[in-house]
Amino acid sequence: MSPAEIFESPKAVLAPIAGFSDVGFRRLCARAGAALTYTEMISAKGLVYGSSKTEDLLHTTDAEKVKAVQIFGSDPEIMLAAARHRALQKFDVIDVNMGCPVPKIVGNGEGSALLKTPELAAKIVRTLKLSGKYTTVKFRIGFEQNSRTGVDFAKILQDAGADALTVHGRTREQFYAGRADREYIAEVVRAVDIPVIANGDVDSVDDYREMLRVTGAAGVMIARGALGKPWLFADIAGAERPWTTRREAVGEHISTMLEFHSSVYVAANMKKHLAYYVRGLAGGKQFKQKVFESNSLDELNAAIDECALLDAPIE
Ligand SMILES: Cc1cc2nc3c(=O)[nH]c(=O)nc-3n(C[C@H](O)[C@H](O)[C@H](O)COP(=O)(O)O)c2cc1C
Repeated sequence: MSPAEIFESPKAVLAPIAGFSDVGFRRLCARAGAALTYTEMISAKGLVYGSSKTEDLLHTTDAEKVKAVQIFGSDPEIMLAAARHRALQKFDVIDVNMGCPVPKIVGNGEGSALLKTPELAAKIVRTLKLSGKYTTVKFRIGFEQNSRTGVDFAKILQDAGADALTVHGRTREQFYAGRADREYIAEVVRAVDIPVIANGDVDSVDDYREMLRVTGAAGVMIARGALGKPWLFADIAGAERPWTTRREAVGEHISTMLEFHSSVYVAANMKKHLAYYVRGLAGGKQFKQKVFESNSLDELNAAIDECALLDAPIE
């Protein structure tokens, strides 16, 4: 399937989530039915100037039939060089982060700061299109709470050649507080002709349907709602879940990670995920404590082996 074909009918996609969108989690979500699974945000500069840490984030598996990477930066030429970098050749979709609210990123004129420099944002898209890749942009509905520029911003990006857009229904000022504004996302959907993916606060099949109903979007992006719950994508697609217990999903997550990373890396990375896998389960606290106290993958695996909570059928 080409990227353009994905949104001929509404689909759910996994968001870029720094620290969580690793190759293992993306594989699980893709297997469950996520139509796109973005890597976490990758520094265009880090890639171009050869940071090996950056390349660690770029592993993929064949489960991701359409491969999507997200980059951040503010220099159009460096971003084009990143898009042409050997390590990004396997990706079909390149997304530009124009939504990150973190002060360090915003202070560099990157992430959501680009909402305030729409001409530069357009130049980034125009320049990136020279790579020949399907180019998408993820942004917020505005920078300040009282100046929602998302509709105009979307039109500018469309004119610059963006192939699709993702809108997170919050302003930069909100960070993650308050509710995502679905009505405003609907305005963006109506303002452009390219596919718009709606994002914010989708945690269940009902939320997914409601987001589509209110916004008329071409797709829905899910971040926090999918953590520890990759089967949500199967539920949304009305398909059979690939796993019947959390233990099966956790086991596949870890074994996929070990195909690409050292056991030290995997242990550190899985701690955060494991806390989500038992989120909301009675008795999860003790397991989480053991997980966070573990000093090696062996210790982590021992905690997992002992945890009966992981054997219950997924509700
Ligand atoms: C821990 C964390 C890391 C995130 N990392 C990224 C990122 O790398 N790139 C990005 O565009 N958005 C990132 N986001 C934002 C999410 O992709 C998403 O827009 C936001 O969480 C709202 O969606 P949700 O309500 O489904 O979580 C991150 C969010 C969280 C909570």
